[in-house]
Amino acid sequence: MGKYDVKRAVIPCAGKGTRFLPVTKGTPKEMCPIVDKPTLDYIVDECIDGGITNILIILSEGKDDIRRYYHNDVDYEKELIEKGKTEFASIIHNVANKANFYFTVQHELLGLGHAVLQAKEFIKNENFIVCCGDDICTYEGDAPSKQLIEAFKKTNGHTIVGGQKVKHEMISKYGCMDINREESARLYSLKGIVEKPNIEEAPSDLASLGKWVFNSKIFDYIEKTPKGKGGEIQLTDAIALMIKDEPVYFYDFVGKRYDCGDKLGYLKAIVDVALKRDDLKDSFKEFLKEKDFR
Ligand code: UTP
Repeated sequence: MGKYDVKRAVIPCAGKGTRFLPVTKGTPKEMCPIVDKPTLDYIVDECIDGGITNILIILSEGKDDIRRYYHNDVDYEKELIEKGKTEFASIIHNVANKANFYFTVQHELLGLGHAVLQAKEFIKNENFIVCCGDDICTYEGDAPSKQLIEAFKKTNGHTIVGGQKVKHEMISKYGCMDINREESARLYSLKGIVEKPNIEEAPSDLASLGKWVFNSKIFDYIEKTPKGKGGEIQLTDAIALMIKDEPVYFYDFVGKRYDCGDKLGYLKAIVDVALKRDDLKDSFKEFLKEKDFR
């Protein structure tokens, strides 16, 4: 394996999903379906498209539905084969076998930085991508995960913050980039990064959108990070500490991103995914055309 190869992914899914109550009282938001696949599975597939083979999912207590979904259910598979339903048998076989899945529990919800820290043992000295469990992307060309991993290689293994430009009035919802300069197309070196700034103080409209590529040094910085906004250990604050010591980059990835932890973002994802599906798009378009939006 090359020094800058990235084969491992960490997907934090421990959050409470308060914005999505009441369903998240009983079901993890990452398991809410977009057509016929859980939200999380789109992220898993994007990681696999980016060349990832080993995936660690960070859970919290009560999120066992996620573990169960990726369990290799050989009895059910056998039952479907015996009934002649081989197509369905291969669907469930593929879910459990498309990557190597690992799980760990974040016992106290102390923030995204703390969630990533739970991956320290799993990562050891390797490089890894982090993708939030509620942020999905649709894309025509390379998967955003692949674009970020390519950027990581190009910068000889320095941290890559993945994101995009957002509307100015939205920037205070995100980690915001303080740009040093544009190094090449879509790749920017950073002077700083600020978690959820006030609009007046935001240094740019470039927002961190739920994907990062790191080497294992990030764990040292998370361990040094004090509690920040909301009393949580923020991943953005750990990256801000890292920027003081070494180059860190932002990559403006190509792809349409949906915040599925937000009700409107989730609805938009369902509509757009359905409109891309060969088995649904024509009849779904017909249905939408019949709507009277006046
Ligand atoms: P969010 O803030 O979007 O998730 O965190 P949340 O906490 O579930 O959201 P609300 O505000 O309560 O609705 C971004 C990502 O970080 C994970 C979440 O699961 C989500 O994927 N996360 C957050 C953790 O894994 N652990 C934490 O302590 C916090």
